[in-house]
Amino acid sequence: MARKLAAGNWKMNGTRGALQELSALAQAHPDPSVDILICPPATLIHPAAALMADSSVQIGGQDCHAQVSGAHTGDISAEMLADAGASSVILGHSERREDHGESSDAVNAKIRAAHAAGLVAIVCVGESLSQRDAANTLDIIGGQLATSLPDACTAANTVIAYEPIWAIGTGKVPTTEQIDEVHDFIRTHMIRRFGEAEGGAMPLLYGGSVKPDNAAEIFATDNVDGALVGGASLKAADFSPIIKALE
Ligand code: G3P
Repeated sequence: MARKLAAGNWKMNGTRGALQELSALAQAHPDPSVDILICPPATLIHPAAALMADSSVQIGGQDCHAQVSGAHTGDISAEMLADAGASSVILGHSERREDHGESSDAVNAKIRAAHAAGLVAIVCVGESLSQRDAANTLDIIGGQLATSLPDACTAANTVIAYEPIWAIGTGKVPTTEQIDEVHDFIRTHMIRRFGEAEGGAMPLLYGGSVKPDNAAEIFATDNVDGALVGGASLKAADFSPIIKALE
């Protein structure tokens, strides 16, 4: 059985004042029965990790470079994220794939770097609306998984997040049947590739317009072990009921 995870992706939102939302979240969930992770912008990782050091809230990054160090202006290595106090890193988010032209091969290299630094890789996959309309969803996701994931993925070091691109920030959510179909496909793929023990226990998150009012229905779907939440993770008052729905 996979562990449950409520993860928040703050994207490019938040300055130091936003750290108070973390304190509120930690106060509201002193002893949660699920894992809680917030991935703030890189500028907040160190202060957030220091603030949350003795709390139930873990801190993660939103991307890393594939190399440990070097002449890569503006980039951050996995080792630097770990040094700043991150436990995890989101990789292959569709916004990175789109805005920065990241291929699944590039994501594969980043996941290996994350694992080498001791970070959990939260690997995003998902189809565009035109790919879904053309009935290519499972092919696209199968291809992303096959190429993005290195062989050393385990249930302890890898989380998969299914994020249909058309559901991100749009308020549109797939039906539970659609989520069920994709998560079942991902679980089968993971078990075939990594074996029952690892593939069967790898957390599978759903992401895309998860809100307090739809979280419970999404979490009731088979093979949904949690969520990767964007907009509704920015405020503790919105994220807290989502965590509760998972518990
Ligand atoms: O990574 C989270 C994400 O892309 C979903 O964003 O704002 O639709 O919850 P949102």
